[in-house]
Amino acid sequence: MERIHTKIVKVNENNPEKELIEEGAKLIKDGKLVAFPTETVYGLGANGLDEEAVKKIFIAKNRPQDNPLILHISSVEQIKPLVEEIPKEAKLLMDRFWPGPLTLLFKRSSLVPSIITAGLDTVAIRMPDHPIALELISSSGVPIAAPSANTSGKPSPTSAKHVIEDLYGRIHMVIDGGKTGVGLESTVLDLSCKPPMILRPGGISLEDLKEIIPDVKLDLTILKENKNLTPKSPGQKYRHYAPIADMFVFVGELEGIVKVIKEKAGELIKEGKTVGIMATEETKNRYEEGVVISVGSRKDMATIGHNLFNTIRLFDEKKVDVILAEGVEAHHIGTAIMNRLKKASGGKIIKV
Ligand code: TXA
Ligand code: MG
Repeated sequence: MERIHTKIVKVNENNPEKELIEEGAKLIKDGKLVAFPTETVYGLGANGLDEEAVKKIFIAKNRPQDNPLILHISSVEQIKPLVEEIPKEAKLLMDRFWPGPLTLLFKRSSLVPSIITAGLDTVAIRMPDHPIALELISSSGVPIAAPSANTSGKPSPTSAKHVIEDLYGRIHMVIDGGKTGVGLESTVLDLSCKPPMILRPGGISLEDLKEIIPDVKLDLTILKENKNLTPKSPGQKYRHYAPIADMFVFVGELEGIVKVIKEKAGELIKEGKTVGIMATEETKNRYEEGVVISVGSRKDMATIGHNLFNTIRLFDEKKVDVILAEGVEAHHIGTAIMNRLKKASGGKIIKV
């Protein structure tokens, strides 16, 4: 593709400078691409009602055309023209969790270009909880279509540096608002089926959602490979978040995990491989060999979520051949962490 001049602007994340945001908003209105921080990961934004602009997202990211995009809004009012109806349960969820890392699927209206929904009859919408994102959307005056601002297949970006690594020269602007908070993408929830189904676990957990919709379920393909089932969310069928290195994830009882990773690391190092170990605060001092990086404390799973994608990218920077990662317990935010580890490792999850 033709090389684009990428302007990088540093913006105060708590109190975004109006004139800088307006510059980004003008680009969006002109059909250009602007990467911006949200509370989950950086998004690659374009005017969600402009089919030509949205096409540029797919080209810049190298994203398969059959993977639909999320529309980002800054006020609940903005939904109305985009959807056929707002179900009662959606209203309750929006009241409780918006702005925040929850994406809801609605029956789309004819205003939504079919490139956004990849031809599906539902449209995904969320209101991000980040001053820069909200200001950019309201200043543009349009819903902003934004996938994660990474090259397709790579870990999602949690800092402007990651966006620049992947997309420099392919997009018009990067708004640098520092590191993102949650570090994992939003939860995608389908309310059109009974029971309502989580298609992608994320920043809002199953346990959180159960407080409002007690019968909500996780799509069965999320944590286990199931050859007979196709994920309902098109994005879930692709290899994602993948490091360059080969990756294995170890789950089970913690002592067993440490023992097996040490043995495996020893064998690989003997074969001449460079080995990365994704450890936790509780275990990092137990490993005597390999490039050991702690992803956070097991007592603070939110921090593990916050650090996960950056840590995967760090191992690639250190040019390890293999990453041996400790798994975490798959509940609350741990469900989203294990889903990303499953994808990043191409399903190589080993029960010890
Ligand atoms: O946190 C997030 O959601 C970030 C930030 C930037 O908002 N965005 C993000 O977008 O992760 P993306 O495009 O990387 O992931 C969107 C996911 C994909 O798995 C896609 O298949 C699914 O949402 N999706 C979007 N529209 C859908 C629809 N109509 N039906 C089912 N799945 C849908
Ligand atoms: Mg993505």
